[in-house]
Amino acid sequence: MADAPPPRKPSTIAVTAGRPPHEADQPLNVPMTMAATYVAGGDLEYGRYGNPTWAAFEDALGALEGGRCLSFASGLAAVSTVLDLVGLDTRVVAPRHSYNGTVMQLADLESRGRLRAALVDVTDTDAIIAACEDASLVWLESPTNPALEVIDLEPVIEAAHAAGAYVAVDNTFATPLLQRPLDLGADLVVHSATKFLSGHADVVLGAVVTRDDDLFTVLKGRRDLVGAIPGTLEAWLALRGLRTLHLRVERAQANAQELVRRLADHPAIAEVRYPGFGAMVAIVLAQGAMAADLLTHKTSIWVHATSLGGVESTFERRRRWKSEASTIPEALVRMSVGIEDVDDLWDDLRAALDDVTA
Ligand SMILES: Cc1ncc(COP(=O)(O)O)c(C=O)c1O
Repeated sequence: MADAPPPRKPSTIAVTAGRPPHEADQPLNVPMTMAATYVAGGDLEYGRYGNPTWAAFEDALGALEGGRCLSFASGLAAVSTVLDLVGLDTRVVAPRHSYNGTVMQLADLESRGRLRAALVDVTDTDAIIAACEDASLVWLESPTNPALEVIDLEPVIEAAHAAGAYVAVDNTFATPLLQRPLDLGADLVVHSATKFLSGHADVVLGAVVTRDDDLFTVLKGRRDLVGAIPGTLEAWLALRGLRTLHLRVERAQANAQELVRRLADHPAIAEVRYPGFGAMVAIVLAQGAMAADLLTHKTSIWVHATSLGGVESTFERRRRWKSEASTIPEALVRMSVGIEDVDDLWDDLRAALDDVTA
């Protein structure tokens, strides 16, 4: 018997997964199936229950994360579906600097008596481990948005499981190319596919990936019932974006690492935060929030915009949002480094920084 082929590498998976079979006259790319309903008697039946274009995206992201994937209308729809798994009045542990939409959802659910949220400082591994006691869900996000803290995932996941809790990891910032939480023992991986996965700032989409068939069935049931389903065009665009994920992440990460080196010496900057990997950087302006606001209006390549993970470099002062945690410095500018030429990015940024300090 022939040996099994070696497992495919992530870049090959990104290019090959979710394709139609190699048969005569099959298109190379999955078509956009615009369908509200299907001829009865099959697996799909109705447009809220499934769609071949979503399925192709889900096959590809599932293969990259190493589990079964379900796509959702947005990252927050995916977050909300996972938070809905927990029993009434049970404890959910989460980073205090999780994405602010997640923190707002937890606060909203808590205010309605649905659950009890314990927000923790994830730089203190012992503190998260202690907080896992009696939790039904441990929600992790690493690196965190926008503080860029990194969680020591393995011991925390182990402690959460020992306490009988499920573990979900928001892997939006790292992508499955830099971190595969299911391999580290997590039960669920959550994505805002709006960001690096689709990569072109033209799609809002979310996803959950799991290896647990029971969890998959419950989540699919919730998606069928609540209807937070992706649009066909969004799933198609996200899959198209996913094909170049490895190239984009590699280039954006290299640009980020070079910019971090150059930023360190600039007198306008009090602090540079970078987890050591990925394309997200945060800088804290020495001269405060006004200088940070000024900076975001002085560049011609860097775009002042929220969101992240696109081919284009964007930045914003996070505390301009009233909902951002008060422990995030007022003068922190979160930067999503794109794939432009690094010298052009630096020249544009340095000129604006020089202007702000002048
Ligand atoms: C880490 C993280 N998780 C979840 C979300 C929510 O995703 P979406 O905007 O696709 O609903 C975001 C959005 O910024 C995010 O940054």
